[in-house]
Amino acid sequence: MVKICCIGAGYVGGPTMAVIALKCPSIEVAVVDISVPRITAWNSEKLPIYEPGLDDVVKKCRGKNLFFSNEVEKNVAQADIVFVSVNTPTKSSGLGAGKAADLTYWESAARMIADVSKSSKIVVEKSTVPVKTAEAIEKILTHNNKGIEFQILSNPEFLAEGTAIADLFDPDRVLIGGREETPGGLKAIKTLKDVYAHWVPEERIICTNLWSAELSKLAANAFLAQRISSVNSISALCEATGANVTQVSYSVGKDQRIGSKFLSASVGFGGSCFQKDILNLVYICECNGLPEVANYWKQVIKINDYQKNRFVNRLVSSMFNTVSGKKIAILGFSFKKDTGDTRETPAIDVCRGLLSDRAQLIVYDPQVPEEQMMKDLSMPKFDWDQPSGSTTIQIDEETVRKSVKMVHNAYEATKDAHAICILTEWDEFKSLDYKKIFDNMPKPAYVFDGRNVVDVGKLRQIGFIVYSIGKPLDPWLKDMPAVA
Ligand code: UDX
Ligand code: UDX
Ligand code: ADP
Repeated sequence: MVKICCIGAGYVGGPTMAVIALKCPSIEVAVVDISVPRITAWNSEKLPIYEPGLDDVVKKCRGKNLFFSNEVEKNVAQADIVFVSVNTPTKSSGLGAGKAADLTYWESAARMIADVSKSSKIVVEKSTVPVKTAEAIEKILTHNNKGIEFQILSNPEFLAEGTAIADLFDPDRVLIGGREETPGGLKAIKTLKDVYAHWVPEERIICTNLWSAELSKLAANAFLAQRISSVNSISALCEATGANVTQVSYSVGKDQRIGSKFLSASVGFGGSCFQKDILNLVYICECNGLPEVANYWKQVIKINDYQKNRFVNRLVSSMFNTVSGKKIAILGFSFKKDTGDTRETPAIDVCRGLLSDRAQLIVYDPQVPEEQMMKDLSMPKFDWDQPSGSTTIQIDEETVRKSVKMVHNAYEATKDAHAICILTEWDEFKSLDYKKIFDNMPKPAYVFDGRNVVDVGKLRQIGFIVYSIGKPLDPWLKDMPAVA
């Protein structure tokens, strides 16, 4: 029986291992983490992350061939394959601050694996890491030469939050990178391939060298983010010209060479991966003497920041250049629908922008806990584009506590609000009773839709002044000062 241990019970490690356990009853899977509350939650009725379909998968395997534990060293020592799925945030100080990946957690995991291992193991990079990390990890693993063989594989995860289980059940591809040039490397690649082959068709399992696998993950995320910045840049031009971004992206996406997916204009992309991975790519380019390439990719993040600023400016300028003391209902705080995750959510920047203009915010999100939101809004934000150590607008905790409130439904949030800001595309925001909402708001009543979820025509008929990203402007907004 093959034994798998995964270090890191997060958004990637948890769901991935649960699906491996479900699809491979003959494999025993232990997911370990240093965090006691996380493991306790994984062993409870309320899992630590919200992900459609995950509860079902965990319930079917937990206690049979899927275990969650804080006994990190014991489980690593017993495993044949060790996945490393710890967090790799962007460095916030020192060399490469603001761009390079912080590999502290990775390094300590690798040292621990080296120390506790008594038998040969395959060590799999699951979290996204900078290209050539495997080389560094290899050095750490082999430093205390105990005659144990370690094979390093890179097996980046492509799941998206909110659809993680469907993505894992039916992936476009599984990517396995290893030392193809050695017999040991080839054997390790085959061992991992056999795990996925339990449910993934062979032609979708791609095997490459280590560096190609590591770089493919960064490149894939950079390409995806680039599509969003491309359509978002066009959304600004649509507003200026009277074109409709939904019509433009539909027409563009019909070209099979371009494809229709991932072309929805929005208030900006968020999530733990896109910005971090692009910054990482930028840093690697700079370190390799490729400043033109670095600048090309930086532009994707600059447009994303621009889009968030543009949204705030549009809102403030539409409301007579001030939101001071005005009540703004924020619908949606997570970085996309069907997740409670708020990492890098555009809602953080938009809310901070409004708070710096002294607005009162009433937030509703079906999944984000209030404490998480409060923490996100009061945390100093690192400015990736400034010299090391500098921060952008800082809203202190007291202001956040005084000016932000979270409520339990959209009707409560919008009651007496001067404006509604839709920042996440939760399905329920499409079918709200907007007439009832309108009747409970002071006039003029505004809707700023950062996700193109509302029916603009219908809302204008009700009486709202509506701004929707990339859509022809409301006559009211046309007369307002231009937005940079
Ligand atoms: C992403 C990648 O999709 C996934 O393959 C990788 O493994 C991790 O990073 P994730 O961040 O979970 O996944 O979600 P994703 O669906 O990619 O959305 C990222 C952000 O882009 C969200 O804020 C989303 O709202 C935004 N987005 C997405 C748009 O603004 N427009 C789109 O058309 C698509
Ligand atoms: C292009 C558009 O494809 C077409 O839809 C539009 O109507 C006119 O412009 P064309 O310029 O004839 O057509 O050729 P295309 O196949 O798009 O190639 C343009 C250039 O890109 C060529 O130099 C081609 O070699 C290059 N190319 C294309 C690449 O370098 N890599 C690719 O993957 C594809
Ligand atoms: P991701 O989205 O990549 O899955 P998360 O932050 O959700 O990232 O999860 C990473 C997990 O890794 C966290 O739960 C963290 O406690 C855990 N972790 C970090 N370092 C170690 C370590 N050395 N040993 C065990 N677990 C670790």
